[in-house]
Amino acid sequence: MIQTAQLMKTFKNGDVFTPVLKGIDFVASQGEWVAIMGRSGAGKSTFLYQMSLLDDPTSGEIVIDGHDTHEMSANEKMQFRLSKFGFVFQRAKSAFCGRTDCKPRQRILEAHHGNIH
Ligand SMILES: Nc1ncnc2c1ncn2[C@@H]1O[C@H](COP(=O)(O)OP(=O)(O)OP(=O)(O)O)[C@@H](O)[C@H]1O
Ligand SMILES: [Mg+2]
Repeated sequence: MIQTAQLMKTFKNGDVFTPVLKGIDFVASQGEWVAIMGRSGAGKSTFLYQMSLLDDPTSGEIVIDGHDTHEMSANEKMQFRLSKFGFVFQRAKSAFCGRTDCKPRQRILEAHHGNIH
């Protein structure tokens, strides 16, 4: 099961704050298929990045199979990603690699510079 509670994500660039996720309460049970739909820019990718532990939310909780991910170290998150997630990006050449030297944050930055959506 994956669960979020009051999940918030606000991007900050200089003095500009962009609130994207504004308190998302979400539950997906084991075996359940879920589609997250919304207009371009609604925050779908942002939500998936938080849920898959590729990025850190501004506040709120993400609980996966009973583990409160807020308590995890970066290394634990990486291990968790490797064992729990499969991620298919919209553009194959940008597929995320889970190795320790793959710099997921760099991947996210690339995503927001147009390589991935
Ligand atoms: N690093 C960032 N800094 C500032 N704003 C950002 C950043 N990343 C995303 N955003 C903004 O957050 C909002 C949500 O973006 P996101 O990529 O999550 O949308 P999306 O629903 O996945 O859109 P699409 O359907 O086009 O893939 C957009 O307004 C986007 O400009
Ligand atoms: Mg997207």
